[in-house]
Amino acid sequence: MEVKKIFLPESELPRQWYNIAADMPTPMEPPLHPGTGEPVGPDDLAPIFPMPLIEQEVSQERWIDIPEEVLEKYLYWRPTPLYRAYQLEKHLETPAKIYFKNEGVSPPGSHKPNTALAQAYYNKISGTKRITTETGAGQWGSALSMCCALFGLECKVFMVKISYNQKPYRRIMMETWGAECVASPSTETKAGQKILDQNPDSPGSLGIAISEAVEAAVMDENAKYALGSVLNHVMLHQTVNGLETQKQMAIAGDYPDVVIGCAGGGSNFAGNCLPFVRDKIYGKEIDIIAVEPASCPTMTRGPFAYDFGDTVQMTPLLPMHTLGHGFVPEPIHAGGLRYHGMAPIISQLILDNLIRPVAIHQLETFQAGITFARTEGFISAPETDHAIAVVIQEALKAKEEGKEKAILFNWSGHGLVDMAAYEAYLSGKLADHTLAEEEVKKALEDIASLPRPKQYTG
Ligand SMILES: Cc1ncc(COP(=O)(O)O)c(C=O)c1O
Repeated sequence: MEVKKIFLPESELPRQWYNIAADMPTPMEPPLHPGTGEPVGPDDLAPIFPMPLIEQEVSQERWIDIPEEVLEKYLYWRPTPLYRAYQLEKHLETPAKIYFKNEGVSPPGSHKPNTALAQAYYNKISGTKRITTETGAGQWGSALSMCCALFGLECKVFMVKISYNQKPYRRIMMETWGAECVASPSTETKAGQKILDQNPDSPGSLGIAISEAVEAAVMDENAKYALGSVLNHVMLHQTVNGLETQKQMAIAGDYPDVVIGCAGGGSNFAGNCLPFVRDKIYGKEIDIIAVEPASCPTMTRGPFAYDFGDTVQMTPLLPMHTLGHGFVPEPIHAGGLRYHGMAPIISQLILDNLIRPVAIHQLETFQAGITFARTEGFISAPETDHAIAVVIQEALKAKEEGKEKAILFNWSGHGLVDMAAYEAYLSGKLADHTLAEEEVKKALEDIASLPRPKQYTG
């Protein structure tokens, strides 16, 4: 019997996070203040984030110690297992060896608590009583709700109204962990009220929910705001995953030729791949692939530019691949991949040819998710299906080339609360959408007058 999954003992849980800022060949350009256009300083960020997280955001230290209290609680579900997908390999008749890291074993079912736990901890020790955040389909909101419960913090989640109404189970998970979840736009903030005045039936958007959550934090001296992706400190916390994976690949006696992950704001992808990007910087040959939806092609069709992180233009300007802060993607089921921007770290690594982005249409992703479920058993989140689609492409390529490649991917979450999406696919209700070039050009008009980074690619 061959080894199916590789566990690490708890004693092998990484004790430090890896900060790729220390190894990046091209340093990132700074975020800019939306009013002055000058680089933002710690004081600009202090109303919304606690100081330890602001320090991590700008840190150049290669290794950052994981606090003991965070390690203790990581043990609730970490280290996570690394699997070998034998049945999928057999089904594809490929000589490739396919490995996947199962981040779906966390209590809320995804990688999101890797950073939610750290953010809740640093808020707790900084005196924060309440954390506000936004959530789309609910993976991030539920992860933060659980982590706030574990550290005795209050949590308030602004959930995009259309998801709030259509997907009650994530909301109920948040409430079970003691959080308050309100539909956004709400009447609780000026930003929400403004949108409702314009359109009482607004279905909401991630951009509006971010504005509401930031406003709610700024207006309450006991509250801070938390973001579940994009920012440097979020990428940092997620590396606990990739560091475990490197130890597990060594136990398997293998090393990946290809590393794949889906990318919405970039955090699960970063978490798994950044330690391998480091190896690539120092000479390893690895193809590292970030997968996005063809209907929200931030990395493959968006320029590298300065843009706001939210639609209502409250956040600092970030140097990143973007489709423009006003871009509204098709309502595909992978809600976590419907973001107009991309983490500055991932964006810069794409410019430096260390990461290769690809875009995939929705139907192919669900087909891949079904193949995976019928061979490996697990039902994946629609976001994760994007990674699986490219894993299958790469495995078939290896077959054509007759190469025994090792392909590693990050299984970022399960899809057990996303069954309506599978039902829509299985009953033939989904279609692919081709995004017209004019739509991209139009959305990019929003950023035409913003400052430009040195490596602007528009
Ligand atoms: C399971 C899963 N995978 C991937 C993502 C994409 O986010 P990120 O790119 O930050 O990992 C999400 C976001 O909600 C998610 O829930």
